Amino acid sequence: MYRYAQKLPHLLRSLLLLSLITATSAQAAEKIDLIIDTDPGADDVVALLFALASPQELNIRALTTVAGNVRLDKTSRNARLAREWAGREEVPVYAGAPKPLMRTPIYAENIHGKEGLSGVTVHEPKEGLAQGSAINYLIDTLKTAKPHSITIAMLGPQTNLALALIQEPEIVQGIKEVVIMGGAHFNGGNMTPVAEFNLFADPQAAEVVLKSGVKLTYLPLDVTHKILTSETRLKQIAAIGNNASKLVGNILNEYVKGDMEHYGLAGGPVHDATVIAYLLKPELFTGRAVNVVVDSREGPTFGQTIVDWYDGLKAPKNAFWVESGDAQGFFDLLTERLARLQ
Ligand code: RIB
Ligand code: CA
Repeated sequence: MYRYAQKLPHLLRSLLLLSLITATSAQAAEKIDLIIDTDPGADDVVALLFALASPQELNIRALTTVAGNVRLDKTSRNARLAREWAGREEVPVYAGAPKPLMRTPIYAENIHGKEGLSGVTVHEPKEGLAQGSAINYLIDTLKTAKPHSITIAMLGPQTNLALALIQEPEIVQGIKEVVIMGGAHFNGGNMTPVAEFNLFADPQAAEVVLKSGVKLTYLPLDVTHKILTSETRLKQIAAIGNNASKLVGNILNEYVKGDMEHYGLAGGPVHDATVIAYLLKPELFTGRAVNVVVDSREGPTFGQTIVDWYDGLKAPKNAFWVESGDAQGFFDLLTERLARLQ
């Protein structure tokens, strides 16, 4: 290219060079400035390894932890473990809300184990937590961020972001979009016939986030229950042969048992990791803009996401609802990224 360029008249050479620089910088500019809010949690840890293995596309500013699958001290330790296993200890971890906004706290130790991380032995990671709460980190970062520049991936109950929005509503200025694992419509719930865990664990928080008007994308059980492990897909991961793939294999082998038994399926979902795949390769997924309402009234529909999929009410579309995805494409991408880790 350069030899050929030398023959060109000077002006044309400069134009060619300029177009090359523009193309490269445009590519570099596409990086996603990302905060991951999480309640690790087995599938959260898979999602964190997936994201931390993708620095070319994801500029992970911080991990913020919340109580959910297990108590806050354990979700925070597990986030630090994922960071250590990914070799990314420069990413700060801020601990957030120890309990939901209003409802009595619930946990999912029956699914994720007492330590919140089934299938592997946990230890106290070397690197500690960052100073200060996740709520203050969110407020300080989003208030001063360039307009609509930061994406937030929410993998657990939405308590941290809700508290930040209640305290400082103007932080919406810094949010580009919020991509949420949560909710259920076509699939039905996994906590009650209608409610999915992350929404059931703090519906009032989900209402605060929904009403803030930020750009929202939901990856509900409707899509996560279509992207299931299988013997072949787990073998595909195990064949990588590094430590990360061994960890993910051991975690998933244990984690998916509950769902496989409950739903009588040959594989289980990796809920939270679909959020990271969506950020990396949105073309793997399909959905539509809808009106979503969260039910926070006590009773049989507590925590339900009511989705007007056919726009019968002609209400404002306040979220993009992902209802399907390319399962093999997801596992191919997850495998390719895990292979980049140690
Ligand atoms: O319903 C699945 C969600 O609840 C996932 O985020 C899982 O980690 C649990 O938090
Ligand atoms: Ca989670």
